Amino acid sequence: MITTPTAPSDSAAPDDGAPEVTTSTALSGTTHIRSFVHRRAHITPGQREALDRLMPQWSIPYRPSILDFEKAFGRQAPTILEIGFGMGETTQKIAEARPDDNFLGVEVFNAGVGALLKRIEESGQTNIRIIQHDAVEVARDMIAPDSLAGVHIYFPDPWPKTRHHKRRLVQPAFISLLASRIKPGGYIHCATDWENYAEQMLEVLGGEPLLVNTASGYAPRPDFRPQTKFETRGLRLGHGVWDLIFTRPAR
Ligand SMILES: C[S@@+](CC[C@H](N)C(=O)[O-])C[C@H]1O[C@@H](n2cnc3c(N)ncnc32)[C@H](O)[C@@H]1O
Repeated sequence: MITTPTAPSDSAAPDDGAPEVTTSTALSGTTHIRSFVHRRAHITPGQREALDRLMPQWSIPYRPSILDFEKAFGRQAPTILEIGFGMGETTQKIAEARPDDNFLGVEVFNAGVGALLKRIEESGQTNIRIIQHDAVEVARDMIAPDSLAGVHIYFPDPWPKTRHHKRRLVQPAFISLLASRIKPGGYIHCATDWENYAEQMLEVLGGEPLLVNTASGYAPRPDFRPQTKFETRGLRLGHGVWDLIFTRPAR
């Protein structure tokens, strides 16, 4: 068993009294509540082996200094930041379908990073890089203002209990930070299968002055976002999925 930072499944949300906070300065010089918790998580031997062998090739260590995308990817191309890629299934499919874009995936979960590394090797793709770190700190410290072509946040942990809503990623301060990192003309795309979180997303994204909704309310799932197995099963059971696509208009 390996202790790894990860987020709980819905039912496994910790019954914590005190929120976990970082000691470093966060979004705007205050502390921030993490959207994941440290817990024991299973990692397969294959994922562990991929972590040991492939991290140096495809991952970028977290550093509190601006990342040069051209150096990191070895080319100049629009760069998409994906936050919380989980096992990387969607990341790999989108990156394969969009070879002219760079994909910077950020995830804290060891098994997920190992899984995406395996997918990168198996597919032979060269347009994905991984940072294993808290995405809040990555966006704050490593991403230059006005630099991203897009941001993807797919099925972020819903933290369904009201007292845990403070842990949700899509909050005004973080969206404001992300909006400042997106180039004019770029976009942010979120998806969730939790209606209450979808409503929060709509309110938070709609309240961010730099962003404009591309739809009146929720957007249809764009063709480039593949439907995951989990989502397909949920839809069959009658559960909803909500996509939100906002742009930062070029002014
Ligand atoms: C419910 S999973 C969804 C995974 C994937 N996007 C999908 O659609 O299947 C959410 C993921 O976000 C990751 N996560 C949560 N907070 C994060 C953060 N602050 N930085 C990086 N990853 C985070 C978790 O470790 C988890 O793997």
